[in-house]
Amino acid sequence: MSCIVVGVTGGIAAYKAVEIVRQLNLLGFQVKVIMTEHATRLVGPATFRAISGNPVALSLFEEEFGAMQHISLSHEADLIIVAPATANILAKMANGLADDLLSTTLLASRAPVLAAPAMNDYMYAHPATEANLKILKQRGVQIVGPGCGFLACGGKGEGRMAEPSEIVDAALEILGLYRKLDGVNVLVASGGTREPIDPVRFIGNRSSGKMGYALAEAAKGMGAEVLLISAPTTMEQPIGVERVMVETAEEMEKEVKTRAPHCKAIVMAAAVADFTPIEISGKKIKKLEKGGLYLELKHTPDILKELGENKPVGQILVGFAAETEDLLEHARQKLKGKNLDLIVANDVSREDSGFESDYNKAFLLFRDGREVELSLMPKRDLASLIWLEIAGLLERA
Ligand code: C5P
Repeated sequence: MSCIVVGVTGGIAAYKAVEIVRQLNLLGFQVKVIMTEHATRLVGPATFRAISGNPVALSLFEEEFGAMQHISLSHEADLIIVAPATANILAKMANGLADDLLSTTLLASRAPVLAAPAMNDYMYAHPATEANLKILKQRGVQIVGPGCGFLACGGKGEGRMAEPSEIVDAALEILGLYRKLDGVNVLVASGGTREPIDPVRFIGNRSSGKMGYALAEAAKGMGAEVLLISAPTTMEQPIGVERVMVETAEEMEKEVKTRAPHCKAIVMAAAVADFTPIEISGKKIKKLEKGGLYLELKHTPDILKELGENKPVGQILVGFAAETEDLLEHARQKLKGKNLDLIVANDVSREDSGFESDYNKAFLLFRDGREVELSLMPKRDLASLIWLEIAGLLERA
């Protein structure tokens, strides 16, 4: 679903590709950049490395990546964007040339391709370029732009690369994610709550907030108005998402309950404490010489259950079930008991996924009895899949 390879070729507009990579990254995609040699003369690979968070691939013969990098990138890619696409790369693509890493990756890949031509107006208008673009379109390559405007070579004309946001929108469209949740108000609760014992100690849990933040980013990327109610986490506030920080289960309950009626979809990805101390000491509890410390705990409110009991017609309610045993059995009970439309069940005892990990292995269990086992995948991919399902449920609601 979401590894995007961005091929940057040697047009002046290469600097604008940095913005494309930045936007895709903010939307939660895994972005891998391939630069042609000429592109590296215009923008430094270090810039793309920093913005994408991944090493930049430059040649077919890099020790670091092994000899088959074009194959691994071509298989990994769910979409390849070529931006800027010079007349040269378009000609190579149209004729099946494979003389560097980008052209070879393109030839070896079966992923959809989006090209954003950028060149001098005469080059763009040349019959050769015209013919190449025609061939590429016939083969299913999607072309975005170019627009008319000021060109790097001076003067005005057709050949100016489409704006980065236009290119990103075209990419989302190809991935089936474009504006699937356009203007829909959604609420995501994330992170692990903390229940205070005294001014310095609390009862917490291992939730990192990664799943919830991936959900917030993915929803934003699909056009939703996102409200993120977050328990403490080290995650940064996703751009364009309204975030409300809370600490305890009670605070989360208050925020979620007041906002929930205005939302079309709610995903409770938060690890909400089930118990909280009956009494909170106003002063730090001193370490005693002998004996232990006995804490009396009471139940916290079950926020999701309350939401399920008061669910407005048409609202989609999604919960998570993090279990260490009898995963599906417990998840089915929660789906029913909390009146949910969908529950995401994950086994948190697995070493390769769950808390703190960037990966998750989940089952999706629906109200209508449908059960889907998903493979181990990055949390951001799982987030997109969950929202696609929610978008489908909203359409049918
Ligand atoms: O019943 P259990 O706590 O295992 O259910 C997990 C689901 O319920 C999660 O979606 C979690 O966010 C939510 N939950 C809640 N309030 C609680 C405990 C869990 O909303 N006090």
